[in-house]
Amino acid sequence: MTVSASSFSFPPEFVWGVATSAFQIEGAAAQDGKGPSIWDTFCRVPGAIADNSNGDIACDHYHRLEQDLDLIAGLGVGAYRFSVSWPRVRPTGHGDWNPKGLDFYERLVDGLIQRGIKPYMTLNHWDLPQALQDRGGWNHRDIVHRFVEYARGMARRMGDRVAAITTHNEPWVMAMLGHETGIFAPGIKDRAVAMQVSHHLLLSHGLALQALRADGCRSRLGIVLNLSPVYPATQSPADRDAARLQDGRLLRWYVDPLLKATYPLDVLEFLGADAPRIESGDLASIATPMDFMGLNYYSRDVVSADGSWDKLRSGREITDMGWEVYPEGLTDLLLRLHRDYPLPPMYVTENGGAFEDRLVDGQVHDEARTRYIEAHIAAVAAAMRGGVRMEGYMVWSLLDNFEWASGYEKRFGIVYVDYASQRRTLKDSALWFRNFIRGHTAAQRADKASTTGA
Ligand code: FCB
Repeated sequence: MTVSASSFSFPPEFVWGVATSAFQIEGAAAQDGKGPSIWDTFCRVPGAIADNSNGDIACDHYHRLEQDLDLIAGLGVGAYRFSVSWPRVRPTGHGDWNPKGLDFYERLVDGLIQRGIKPYMTLNHWDLPQALQDRGGWNHRDIVHRFVEYARGMARRMGDRVAAITTHNEPWVMAMLGHETGIFAPGIKDRAVAMQVSHHLLLSHGLALQALRADGCRSRLGIVLNLSPVYPATQSPADRDAARLQDGRLLRWYVDPLLKATYPLDVLEFLGADAPRIESGDLASIATPMDFMGLNYYSRDVVSADGSWDKLRSGREITDMGWEVYPEGLTDLLLRLHRDYPLPPMYVTENGGAFEDRLVDGQVHDEARTRYIEAHIAAVAAAMRGGVRMEGYMVWSLLDNFEWASGYEKRFGIVYVDYASQRRTLKDSALWFRNFIRGHTAAQRADKASTTGA
């Protein structure tokens, strides 16, 4: 399937990329001085991971860096979003840095730049050093300072070369899934702890931005949130209230403090005694201006007061994760953010789908994934026509990888990974994306030439 790039209109500086995270692809879990992370520990809890797997080997990216960099370059993308494993570069989260770990990311960043690809570095994509968890983890206020130290250390070494630094990936997931429902590491089930964690994540983000700017860091600085538009299942007052609360807990709890220096009152009221302890000055720190904000978008939320709404009833396509394919939700969400907040420039930092892929004769015909990506790119274009300032779009994910509690059962890659041989095969979606970028870049060049009269 080919799509004419000219059917979408993106500015020349718009960035196309692919994304991964350290724990999900690197492997080498205990090599070259890396300390254990909370995900290494969590994977050992019986029943925590669907296929009882772990990140010990994953995509073996740590040992296949050069080959994977060539793979990324072969796609023709302009950006690669990756994360740094905190326990690889600073095994206990504080104290000594690990030269071999730092060297790996130096090679990654330099290898990208040599290939003309902009590095987008995330500091915290969930794999907290276990040693810091042992001291209370994100629930303990002291961690805010450990995170700022870590951010400064990384920015001092690489801030001159990475295009962007993201403090945290999806604080809602770390807070809620890690500390309220406990289905993700560190597996805690306590709402008050979860909310305190969310506050410390946000605070550490703001303080890290201040510290990096004071250090003269030249990268653009921001955060990545997982957001969905929340719709009530019916127009009944009970469903509408339930949707409003869900919107508060998922979206406004993060976006209000970041962009308006306040927590939403309805959520604070709902939380009651579970609300976090907030010290004076915290909210102003959280709202330190950002250079960009990243949005990870997969699906919408539909909420009913009795929890009975079933996504299958919508009649829409459902991915292998059980998530409804709903691209117009991305447009709705971006337009709503644009209307309600003073938004910094925005990126889609993750978007993609898990589908049951079959590798046959060296090919993977993943039409559903291609359709998914194409429809969401169109949804971004629609939001831009509505006035949203978008600067890039990144596919989740470059490679099939360790999908957290789902283990290796769910495949999100545009590149297929055969885990036994570690062989990588471009799926049809990767070929489509490469073509799309190529066509689009050519169209941009032609546009530029015609406007400059060249
Ligand atoms: C996001 C995560 C990413 C990946 C996708 C499917 O929540 O940031 O690591 O697991 O979901």
